[in-house]
Amino acid sequence: MAAFQPLVFSGIQPTGNLHLGNYLGAIQKFVALQETRDCIFCVVDLHALTAQLVQDDLARQTREIAAAYLAAGIDPKRHIVFNQSAVSGHAELAWVFNCVARIGWMERMTQFKDKAGKDRERASLGLLAYPSLMAADILLYRATHVPVGDDQKQHLELTRDIATKFNHDFSARIAEKGLGHPIQMGEETVQGYFPLAEPMIEGPATRVMSLKDGSKKMSKSDPSDLSRINLTDDADTIAKKIRKAKTDPDALPSETAGLAGRPEADNLVGIYAALVGRSRADVLADFGGRPFSEFKPALADLAVDKLAPIATEMRRILDDPAEIDRTLREGAERAGAIAHRTMHDVKSIVGLLNG
Ligand code: AMP
Ligand code: TRP
Repeated sequence: MAAFQPLVFSGIQPTGNLHLGNYLGAIQKFVALQETRDCIFCVVDLHALTAQLVQDDLARQTREIAAAYLAAGIDPKRHIVFNQSAVSGHAELAWVFNCVARIGWMERMTQFKDKAGKDRERASLGLLAYPSLMAADILLYRATHVPVGDDQKQHLELTRDIATKFNHDFSARIAEKGLGHPIQMGEETVQGYFPLAEPMIEGPATRVMSLKDGSKKMSKSDPSDLSRINLTDDADTIAKKIRKAKTDPDALPSETAGLAGRPEADNLVGIYAALVGRSRADVLADFGGRPFSEFKPALADLAVDKLAPIATEMRRILDDPAEIDRTLREGAERAGAIAHRTMHDVKSIVGLLNG
């Protein structure tokens, strides 16, 4: 059988406050990838239930992520844009993966440990099984490439572990039914039903840090709004947040080695580089020796240039929720057709009665 078709899959949770980290770590890459690859972009609303079960505005937040995808330039005609809960295969495949994955694998996830806190026994089962649903998101489409920020690396390793165990445990059935594709594992080529999806975590902004503390990730949940630039911030707010961003008193170095031990400087240079599509070294070639009082206004101008039009377009798109719902529904139909075929195969491989 032929190798797996290259396919990109990624998702963002509708949990509010979409920020510059989400944009540079994920959305900006999605927009670039759609030029060369087939892509599926999902709003992972089922995952959002692990953060908070009872929510007032989950549907609105779901539309907001969809609007961000569209405003940034993702084309829902050429690619698939939809919300996770509209395709039942995500939950179905996640159940099978819950039986493939081991509890110990889940308990080792740093995101689970962070989010569950001290009293792990009281964390929801959904929070523990979160990576199993994420693996299902990707593998339901047998996606081969997953663009994400650095914080998702461990979840993608787990996705590969789940695919590997499934392929191994069911290898005889997969072969018997002729459903295997070649997978390169080191020197060896094996047959498997699920690909080992590769993370795409590259470029200067895979981990954008808080504007107030260079040792903390920029995050949706940081109580200080000054710590992040929201995708919906207006031009004045973006400029103000960059002006107030924490820095050290020294001028910028001329080479990247000079950023070591200067997390805030490193972060702002990384943000500039990612926004302009160049490397940190290129940025320092231009700004080395210059003080933050000169670099910050240049960064603010660049950020406003890139982000303000997206915010404006997002507001325009959000004015017509029925149109967003139509786009998502259409995406869900196309995603659902692929998902249906996968679930048919999976049921047959696992031995469930396939009516
Ligand atoms: P989430 O909001 O957790 O669903 O994240 C959506 C996407 O944004 C994922 O690919 C994350 O890895 C990415 N992301 C979140 N925060 C950051 C950050 N501070 N820097 C870079 N990427 C991020
Ligand atoms: N866990 C991801 C995050 O918090 C969101 C996500 C869910 C995802 N399913 C996915 C990302 C599948 C990539 C592929 O950012």
